[in-house]
Amino acid sequence: MTAWLDRITYRVKLLLPGAYWVLAWGNALGTRLLYGRRIRLTRLEAKVEGFVGGDPAVVRPLGPADLETLHDMIAAIPEDHLRFFHPHGLDRNALHRVLQSRTILTFGMFVRQRLVGYALLKLFANRTAYAGRLIHPEYAGAGLGRYLIHYLYHIGFRLGFRIRATISRENMACLRSHAAVRPLRILASLPNNFQLVEYNQLPSDADLPVLAIASAECH
Ligand SMILES: CC(C)(COP(=O)(O)OP(=O)(O)OC[C@H]1O[C@@H](n2cnc3c(N)ncnc32)[C@H](O)[C@@H]1OP(=O)(O)O)[C@@H](O)C(=O)NCCC(=O)NCCS
Repeated sequence: MTAWLDRITYRVKLLLPGAYWVLAWGNALGTRLLYGRRIRLTRLEAKVEGFVGGDPAVVRPLGPADLETLHDMIAAIPEDHLRFFHPHGLDRNALHRVLQSRTILTFGMFVRQRLVGYALLKLFANRTAYAGRLIHPEYAGAGLGRYLIHYLYHIGFRLGFRIRATISRENMACLRSHAAVRPLRILASLPNNFQLVEYNQLPSDADLPVLAIASAECH
């Protein structure tokens, strides 16, 4: 419904970063005013504990205190793995801003207290959330990314937001991990071979997904 607005915003972000910054500031203000309480409550109930490959694991919201942990995880990941992951800057200052933001919800997946997965939802005042995920390459291909999709569906459902993403047609890992969960709806083609997609939410997304991943062999 609002795909045209998202397409325009995406182009503004690419072509006019200064104007995008003003838009983003206005959006953050509007989102906080309209949905601030709901966002706070959702964060409070977003922690899930379980197992990954027999090891204790937890997925929980991240905050400013997680800056060094998140920075160290990302800094240790080879550039090639980050090729399609540009939801925000990845240097320490940018991560600090993101972790402080009240309109970007960030989550970490910890296995044996080590951060191995990062997920985020960027919230927009038109009740749209943009999703992103990053799994440490040592844990990739073991179903962790798929779990985080379920988890983000749940968070979006609780917030009452629709969830969208911009995905490169070349990002096979991302497309296949989505396809393994449920089909994506393609809303539009974007510059640079990206596409705007929307996730269909189901009534089952009302429940926090159980965190029980059988095998997570380090590659
Ligand atoms: C995209 C990403 C989050 C997927 O997470 P993941 O934990 O590796 O994926 P999963 O183990 O859940 O994979 C689920 C499916 O995707 C497939 N898959 C995973 N990595 C793949 C790859 N590199 N190439 C092709 N298929 C791949 C798996 O085989 C599996 O398919 P199946 O269920 O049919 O067997 C992860 O690869 C990643 O962090 N990539 C770098 C960051 C990025 O590009 N993020 C995308 C923006 S959303």
